Amino acid sequence: MPGVAQTSVDEMLRDARAARDAGVGGVLLFGIPDRKDATGSEAWNDHAPVQQAVRALKRDLPDLVVITDVCLCEYTDHGHCGILRGDTVDNDATLELLAKEAVSHAAAGADIVAPSDMMDGRVAAIRSALDERGFVDTAILSYAAKFAGPFYGPFRDAAESAPSVGDRQSYQMDAANGDEALREVLLDIEEGADMVMVKPAGPFLDVIQRVKAETGYPLAAYQVSGEFAMIQAAAERGWIDRERVMMESLLGIRRAGADVIITYFAREAAALLTARPNFGHA
Ligand code: PBG
Ligand code: ZN
Repeated sequence: MPGVAQTSVDEMLRDARAARDAGVGGVLLFGIPDRKDATGSEAWNDHAPVQQAVRALKRDLPDLVVITDVCLCEYTDHGHCGILRGDTVDNDATLELLAKEAVSHAAAGADIVAPSDMMDGRVAAIRSALDERGFVDTAILSYAAKFAGPFYGPFRDAAESAPSVGDRQSYQMDAANGDEALREVLLDIEEGADMVMVKPAGPFLDVIQRVKAETGYPLAAYQVSGEFAMIQAAAERGWIDRERVMMESLLGIRRAGADVIITYFAREAAALLTARPNFGHA
């Protein structure tokens, strides 16, 4: 993905400090383990990259909100977000592993854990595992309405997490179904999510607006890798004004009702907004 790279913990600290200095409030961490296996066991290794990164951030930049992505696809050798039984994902057997991963992130000091796997029941499973271990203040940001589709391509290349067989249609959502998104969001809230997410953001602005209007819940929207890549590529060719298109894409997400935006433009956009708070306004 252009302008985006895997980093070591030291490089991540440098980037996080620059983001904080630009006015970014928090970071979302993804891990690439040294070795992958069928169950994704590096996900709950207390010494794996994400856990190390969380400890380093909490030591050096304690005010930055640290969110960790909780999923197995970066950790499994088959690239699915859960463990397989035959060639299908075993929803219920996966819950326990996601809970272990979330507890390991919380133990390292994560403020918020963000399950992105889309297994049914994972918010409840993670909440009870966290509470049992005393992590009652660790919040859950649930990727509640996460649609299957082509917009995650650049991320999967960068994170080496594309499924080796099949696709994610059995657990991610159907892009044509806005009602299901609402149901998924309500279930996650019932299970104990502190904040819910719609993803991707730009192609699903209607869903962002509906979720905000119908639940009033704290809402995050994720402007994903494919959305970023399109703007980046067109700007590199000189076809669009990079800054203005970046800001208008974020303004649309905000206008639709997102309280929090997760975006690969975060540092640049925060710096611009600090310098020119009315950027993009007429
Ligand atoms: C892991 C995960 C993905 C993204 C966030 N968490 C990839 C996927 O579901 O395939 C996508 C992020 C992006 O495209 O920027 N499940
Ligand atoms: Zn995943």
